[in-house]
Parts: sequence; C-alpha cells; structure tokens
Amino acid sequence: MALSVLGIACSPRRNGNTTSLLLEGMKTAEIEGHITEMLYLSDFKITPCQGCGACSANGVCVINDDVPKLQERLIHADRLILAAPIFFMGLNAQTKILIDRMQPFWALKYLHHQSLANPAGPDRIGLFLSTAGTQKKDLFKCAERSIQTFFHMLDIKYAQPCLYGGIDLAGEIIEHSTAFDDVRKATQRLIS
Ligand SMILES: Cc1cc2nc3c(=O)[nH]c(=O)nc-3n(C[C@H](O)[C@H](O)[C@H](O)COP(=O)(O)O)c2cc1C
Repeated sequence: MALSVLGIACSPRRNGNTTSLLLEGMKTAEIEGHITEMLYLSDFKITPCQGCGACSANGVCVINDDVPKLQERLIHADRLILAAPIFFMGLNAQTKILIDRMQPFWALKYLHHQSLANPAGPDRIGLFLSTAGTQKKDLFKCAERSIQTFFHMLDIKYAQPCLYGGIDLAGEIIEHSTAFDDVRKATQRLIS
C-alpha cells in the first residue's frame, strides 16, 4: 500500500545538514513507491502561540497565518519525517513555534476528547532527524522530549531517530561516514 510521507525541513538553512538528511529520506520513500511531500518551514508564515487560551473552547486558533495548511498535512500523513537542528541545546525556534501552535490539537484531543487522525487509518510513525555542532552530553535530550510530546499528541509513534553531533557548517554532514546510509535504512523501516 502506498503511504503518504510528509517531510518537514525545519532549519532556516535550506542547504543545511538536516535538510540534506531529509532529502535522502524523502528520496528513499519515493523510490519505494510512496506518495511524498516535502515542506520547508521557512516558506510558511507561522506566528508564535500567544497563550490566549481561545482554542480551549473549540480547538480553533484565532491567529490568521499559514498554520492551518500545516495542520491539514500533519493530520493526513501516514508517516512524518521531521528534520530540525539543535540551537542552544534544544529545538531551533522555528520548530518550537510550529509545535506550540499545535495547541488547538491538544485542546481537541485532551479537552474535547476528539480523534485527530483517522482512527481507521494505518498506524502513524514519525522519524526525527537532527544535527548539532558540538558533541556535548545530552545534546539531543531536550529536542527529543519536545518532538516525542508533539508526536504523541498527534498519535504518531516515535521511531528510532538519526542524530549527529559534531556537524556544524552547512553541508558538513556530507562527510559523515554513516549518516546518509542510516537515514536510508531508517526510512525503509519507517515505510515497511
Ligand atoms: C543560533 C544557533 C544556536 C546553536 N546552538 C547549538 C548548541 O547549543 N549546541 C550545538 O551543539 N550546536 C549548536 N548550533 C549548531 C547547529 O546545531 C549546527 O550547525 C547544525 O548542524 C545546523 O543544522 P542545519 O545545517 O540543518 O541548520 C547552533 C547554531 C545556531 C545557528
């Protein structure tokens, strides 16, 4: 069965490390015959959540920007590959702003007890790809916690991620000995 595979490139660097890894994953999914769509977060107007609480009433956000387009894609994807760099030991701001704006989904699910994705559809699974410049201890811990919480809310299972420290300059990941092969294999597991 052909699955819909959504890729979201969350780095502001369009030629950056995480986006290169994501392109490899998307290519793998496409070669395997799945329906792929890749989005660059930097193409969307996404305003930070204001914490106004309006969405608690009906699951609708009062901000008028591009977030509904992303919500629509996130609800319908069978598989998600999210690629985001580490900034200041956590997710980069663009990714975190996207996640925070999913609060209407949180309200629908936890306050109004509604299903978000199609309960009769296939299991949803997500793969997180990330890079960071240093090799510090617990480098990906905060980012993983946010991504796991985000995936859990969307009923997306968290697959074994592909995380690489010591990768700083744009394009440096190309020199990594296993990263692209790891991502190919992780994507094959994701869609198998
Ligand atoms: C604002 C900013 C903050 C960063 N903070 C960290 C950090 O806390 N720890 C780290 O190891 N690397 C940090 N980095 C380096 C990036 O994680 C690294 O360059 C990564 O490979 C970028 O991925 P990209 O090319 O996909 O954007 C930071 C980079 C920027 C621009």
